[in-house]
Amino acid sequence: ELGKNNLLAGKRILVSAGGTQEAIDPIRYIANRSSGKMGHAIALKAAQAGAKVFLVSGPVNLPVPFGVGQFPVKTAVEMKEVIDDFYESVDAVIMSAAVADYGVAEVADQKIKKQTSMTLELVKNPDILAGLGERKTHQKLIGFAAETQDVIAYGKEKVRKKNLDMLVANDVSKENAGFDVSTNEVTFIYPDDRVVHLSNMSKLDVAEHIIQALAEL
Ligand code: PMT
Repeated sequence: ELGKNNLLAGKRILVSAGGTQEAIDPIRYIANRSSGKMGHAIALKAAQAGAKVFLVSGPVNLPVPFGVGQFPVKTAVEMKEVIDDFYESVDAVIMSAAVADYGVAEVADQKIKKQTSMTLELVKNPDILAGLGERKTHQKLIGFAAETQDVIAYGKEKVRKKNLDMLVANDVSKENAGFDVSTNEVTFIYPDDRVVHLSNMSKLDVAEHIIQALAEL
């Protein structure tokens, strides 16, 4: 079948996709522009490479790739719980989700009534990927970085800080790259500071390069 290979035969791969939704009250939430396209493409290509794939997605409007198990979550805290549960049993984690850096300090039980002005207090969410990096044993860890400037410099810093085996950095200020489009332009950054830039291509093709790179790791 088209696109099939055995690069990850028998491996267990956890992929995160989409953005998290941080509740304000029963009706409103804080979200970001992640569509889940990048993560779903990775899940598909990992499955086609023979892996058993666990896809942890924030709320997305995309079909689940054939043969992939999906675990839907809403908040960053929920995403962390599911990923932490899987961590010991997988060979690699590819963290393409746009996890909200902040959640709402006190989520209201009832709809918040109109006021002339209001202040919302935000608190820092746990950094899921940094936690995985700290507890890493046998797993390969691939992180993403969405930046609008100094992509390589910030990327190298993230590889070290989060103890990654590879980082996929995307300059989301570029046209046809990053959030909510079908194409992306990324740079792979390794712990030894090696940098591999890929030209603009479909997210499916980016996903194939990531699977190839993971197989080499
Ligand atoms: O979903 P699409 O519309 O296809 O868009 C794809 C994408 C732009 C969302 C994707 O390519 C991407 O860049 N994802 C990572 C976005 C991001 O949150 O980057 P960051 O630099 O803030 O985070 C760095 C890494 O830490 C990421 O792997 C992220 O998943 C992880 N993280 C971040 C914050 C947090 N609290 N916990 C985390 O695990």
